[in-house]
Amino acid sequence: MQASTFKVRVDAIRDEAQGIRSFRVSRVDGQPFDKYEPGAHIDVTAPSGITRQYSLCSDPDSNDHLLFAVKREPESRGGSRSLHDEVEIGGELLIGPPRNLFRLVHEAQFHLLVGAGIGITPLLSMAYRLESSSQPFVLHYFARSEEHAAFLSLLSQQRFAGNVKLHFGVEPGDLGTELRSCLADAQSGTHVYTCGPTPFMDQVVAIGESTKSIAEVLLERFSAAPIEPSTSSFEAFDVKVASTGQVIRVVKDQSIVDALATIGIEIDTSCGEGICGTCMVDVVEGTPEHRDHCLSKAEREGSKVICCCVSRSLSPLLVLDI
Ligand code: FES
Repeated sequence: MQASTFKVRVDAIRDEAQGIRSFRVSRVDGQPFDKYEPGAHIDVTAPSGITRQYSLCSDPDSNDHLLFAVKREPESRGGSRSLHDEVEIGGELLIGPPRNLFRLVHEAQFHLLVGAGIGITPLLSMAYRLESSSQPFVLHYFARSEEHAAFLSLLSQQRFAGNVKLHFGVEPGDLGTELRSCLADAQSGTHVYTCGPTPFMDQVVAIGESTKSIAEVLLERFSAAPIEPSTSSFEAFDVKVASTGQVIRVVKDQSIVDALATIGIEIDTSCGEGICGTCMVDVVEGTPEHRDHCLSKAEREGSKVICCCVSRSLSPLLVLDI
């Protein structure tokens, strides 16, 4: 688990849409939060004791509070259900510092934000920054209906309205056509940022990667897709700790995190499923077999980082910068 968590007070709770509730929190000691970049997420520990990751949807240039929104999941094991049912205004929560694997690309010619449902949250913080810095962008927001669309009154405000396009009630069979029309006019050098249910993002990625004018598609997942079986020819491999020279064998069905723990090296983790990036470390030598869901295509191809909770190795040895 992460070491650096701290307490915050809940100042406001708002129902943003059917089943989606936002929580505005401030530091218990009255100090401002550290600056964070749009697209960041935080760990939030619910009163049930369960920790989950939630994207920040506040204005990243206002650091007196943080805002995150939680969708009540019917299958909740105590994370979203506890936050919806057991948190009141004035109560306290434990959160972790913002982490970001979903950053705006500064050299982008144009930013296309494409979100669905609760996936609006990281895109909202991006929209704040893009609007305040006068960078060109359009935000396409898909929801089952107006009642299921979060932050609608905010998105309708003058500062955003001209850049926001709403898509309500699009049938699954029509989604590809609708997305293609959203991406069709992308100018050269456009970066696409998407967040929402996995099948939605899969379509955005497929269409985006086959559209010539789109430079890159970046995405943020809220839940892990099933982990593919390993394709590595090495069932077991060695990990070398660059700082000490220690070498530890990672056996079949063991994670790098667990193997390192046997020699007393603790890697911070949070989700344990390859979606949050907490366990990411730099790779000095060797070729990772990426089995996470949070690194971008460019980061995977560069093979310079690895998520130690789920990823393995395509080479017999990985030297890690720890
Ligand atoms: S702990 Fe979340 S990606 Fe590894």
